[in-house]
Amino acid sequence: ISLKPYNTFGIDVKAKNFIAVSSLKELKEVFLLKEYPTKFILGGGSNMLLTKDVDDLVVNINLKGKEIISESGNTTLVKVKAGENWHEFVLWALSQNLGGVENLSLIPGNVGTAPIQNIGAYGVELKDVFYSCEALNTKTLEVKPFFKEECNFGYRDSYFKRNKGEYIITSVTFKLTNTDHKLNISYGAIEAELKNKKVTHPTITDISNAVISIRKSKLPDPKELGNSGSFFKNPIINKSQFENLLATNPMMPHYVVSANEIKIPAGWLIEQCGFKGKRFGDAGVHKNQALVIVNYGNASGKELWELALSIQQSVKEKFNINIEPEVNIY
Ligand code: EPU
Repeated sequence: ISLKPYNTFGIDVKAKNFIAVSSLKELKEVFLLKEYPTKFILGGGSNMLLTKDVDDLVVNINLKGKEIISESGNTTLVKVKAGENWHEFVLWALSQNLGGVENLSLIPGNVGTAPIQNIGAYGVELKDVFYSCEALNTKTLEVKPFFKEECNFGYRDSYFKRNKGEYIITSVTFKLTNTDHKLNISYGAIEAELKNKKVTHPTITDISNAVISIRKSKLPDPKELGNSGSFFKNPIINKSQFENLLATNPMMPHYVVSANEIKIPAGWLIEQCGFKGKRFGDAGVHKNQALVIVNYGNASGKELWELALSIQQSVKEKFNINIEPEVNIY
């Protein structure tokens, strides 16, 4: 079958064998199949670039369900199965007046893949609302609970990302607020958007709406234009390199991570290299956000990857900074 509907880049590669699993039992059964020694696990398909056909058995994680498992004081624990769509979960949380995930509105992908790269946007990361998850060990077929400390969350990073293939996340439990919500409007763009909408006492829904407006203005909708969000991670450089760069680029945006670590927006670096809005056949760089590589229709994964490599090389030549892909390349 074609995997085109299963990846947000809209790349038309073929899978020889494909199976969607909707229960833990089915998932375990798939791992007992001796004829397919290696599996290709597919969640929402929103963070990968497929550059070739897939010979392995493609396993689509389609486990569904959300339940409130406990409420105490201001805290509600919600357990969500891996195959639930992320943004639908966010909207559901808002409808239950549960706070914590509103800044993460409209992020493509599924709940079960969100912890792998510790999704984050507008001042909030998944780890801030993560309580625990359950994951199937693909060797022993045992389900293991992982609490936050065991997940080693970092910027777009986790235990699961570093140990690919070892576990499949089957559900995530979130720690949300139910009355006294801790709003996060530290991100300049949210503040500006709320001001613009004349909202003075924002609710979690106001924040979600602000984030949705900001994302819609900058980021292409994968349903209209194939993409995988940020293609690269924002690089972290040391203080002396930062000071040298700032001397020649006084307007360079940056965030201080620690005394000797400064994060530079890769989108800015890419824009300085002249790629913003550029198109090469059906492969291009988004006009409003240079960090996003887009498929205008029939670009192949290889073409998109070649564009990514030339961007990477230009940034290296101009700034002596290595930018690493954020998406998984297959
Ligand atoms: N910038 C440019 N040119 C561009 C793009 C950005 O100069 O083409 C500058 C902006 O002006 C701003 C700075 O770079 O000063 C940061 O831009 P933005 O706020 O758009 O955020 P980002 O650092 O480019 C990160 C995440 C996004 C997330 C936003 C908002 C990464 C790799 N990306 O992007 O995440 O939505 O912050 O929090 O960390 C994703 O992971 O797929 C994703 C979209």
